[in-house]
Amino acid sequence: MISEKISWSDEYLLGDSLVDKQHRKLFDIVDNILSIDDENLKESIKTCLSELNSYMNYHFDEEEKYMFSIKYPLLDDHKMLHKQIREDLYKLVREKVSLHVLKTKIKIGVKKVLIKHILEEDMKVQPFYFKYKETFSKKVKVNTQEEIVEI
Ligand SMILES: [Fe+2]
Repeated sequence: MISEKISWSDEYLLGDSLVDKQHRKLFDIVDNILSIDDENLKESIKTCLSELNSYMNYHFDEEEKYMFSIKYPLLDDHKMLHKQIREDLYKLVREKVSLHVLKTKIKIGVKKVLIKHILEEDMKVQPFYFKYKETFSKKVKVNTQEEIVEI
């Protein structure tokens, strides 16, 4: 069903608390979109899209900063995917279709594009995050030992 809600699972956690919190928030925003009904349709679509657009842009920027900080090797490709999603959303809202068609297209679009992106593309970061964390904690241990030796 198009309007069937999506549910968050901790299986989708990447390991970084800030990015994970933002992904949960995006799931909530998508759920709000999926529950748009025909009452005040124009207003509901406008409100939901504006929330999605501003939070998604904020999140993409934050996520790219995070990926840069852990030296994610596929960052440039990932930035292109974010750019494509932004463009797709922009195109979608400019289509000359009725509000009912737009509602359906948005519901399908957010599930197919945004949620798919989080579950498939963002999840690719996970092993790099753990590798980076492991390397970082080893460095901290070495430094601690050196300090102990120095004392
Ligand atoms: Fe992403």
